[in-house]
Amino acid sequence: MDRIRIIGGTRLEGTIPISGAKNAALPLMIASLLTSETLTLENVPQLADVVQLGRILGNHGVDLAIAGKRPGQAVNSGQTFRLTAAEIVDTVAPYEMVSRMRASFWVLGPLVARMGEAKVSLPGGCAIGTRPVDLHLEALRCLGAEIDLEGGYVLAKAPGGLTGGRIDFPKVSVGATHNALMAAALARGESVIGNAAREPEIGDVAECLVKMGAKIEGIGTSTLLIQGAGELKGAVHAVLPDRIETGTYAMAVAATGGDVLLDNARADLLESVLDVLRTAGVEITITNHGIRVARNGAGLNPVSVETQPFPGFPTDMQAQLMALMSLADGTSDIRETIFENRFMHVQELARLGAEIDLDGDLARVSGVKGLHGAQVMATDLRASVSLVIAGLAAEGETIINRVYHLDRGFERIEEKLSRCGAQIERLSA
Ligand code: EPZ
Repeated sequence: MDRIRIIGGTRLEGTIPISGAKNAALPLMIASLLTSETLTLENVPQLADVVQLGRILGNHGVDLAIAGKRPGQAVNSGQTFRLTAAEIVDTVAPYEMVSRMRASFWVLGPLVARMGEAKVSLPGGCAIGTRPVDLHLEALRCLGAEIDLEGGYVLAKAPGGLTGGRIDFPKVSVGATHNALMAAALARGESVIGNAAREPEIGDVAECLVKMGAKIEGIGTSTLLIQGAGELKGAVHAVLPDRIETGTYAMAVAATGGDVLLDNARADLLESVLDVLRTAGVEITITNHGIRVARNGAGLNPVSVETQPFPGFPTDMQAQLMALMSLADGTSDIRETIFENRFMHVQELARLGAEIDLDGDLARVSGVKGLHGAQVMATDLRASVSLVIAGLAAEGETIINRVYHLDRGFERIEEKLSRCGAQIERLSA
């Protein structure tokens, strides 16, 4: 199994290109199930999760062609995918596939909307909490599907197609909103999704569905009004920049006291994260090309942060902030309100010298003068990258085991960081 070796203590300086967002690319790829025409996606990041989803969609009959670079395209622009589901050959998403990636559960809504039936295994994904799917199932029931559970599978049926309907989510869920939105776009009637997640990736998918022929009002708000199209067509859509990758590199720059331009980053996608960084004393400048992050010699102020659905501080940035606050001049309170088990990085950060006390959903981080290198274990995607941040700031050598988690969500991370001066390399097993 690959490992990552970091010799910490070097300032990051230069430019880091920001890739297309994983959490938009995945549902956008799934949206290809909604039409027999070709959906072209640009700026798709090269990630293990994207490859895995390509395989899963292939099982359902989606033909995926990956186009080469066009003249004039930037060196760092992402891949172009042409996805064509001319015919759906299988409406079953088996356990072996769905258990490896939670987002693949989101094929449920599109499949039942297009084919009138679907059988999808209950999901897996990062072990960050119990992660039920009740909201997905209830939403599809509201749109006219009959749902049963059998042998670890969800069976969804709508023989005459989905009718559309009113969904009022009791809790904000990104995945359930994606599932419901995609299904509603192809349903025959009108749908309203109340208390919808407002994450920018939902807006990106909604914009793509509009290009495919759906009528959607309220994009970017918590109430989505969808006039189902009955049939959708092909479209061309570029995946929006990854706000979590952006925030992660911003924290890495802050932790090492560097000066980096995050090229192609969009500040409007991560205001809450930039606000926290400013409070911590990090210099943030919005430029025409992206976001410049700098910390030149100044100390880091502690912060108090609670994770919240968008536009609040994202749970996907909690681990990275904890690594950064380990170096602050004082004590930070970080409360995780979205996933009850998303603190697995705490004991690994402690190996590097971080001082963190856990009390239920609250982590109290007492800043230390410096971290020191150690052997650590990556436990989930964002936890892994928090160890990279800590390792970059630590004195000496850090070895991160189980880095396959990182490859699920960070494109060419060693290359992007080493170009900015980091001493980081992959040790292949
Ligand atoms: C998405 O997961 C993201 N995944 C996660 O990113 C992210 O952490 C999460 O949203 C929150 O922002 C992708 O976009 C692929 P949720 P999702 O449904 O959709 C509860 C990463 O690192 N819930 O918004 O699975 C759930 O347990 C990943 O890139 C129910 O109770 O998250 C949680 O407490 C990890 N019932 C809360 O809602 C349900 O039916 C929010 O989860 C569904 C969810």
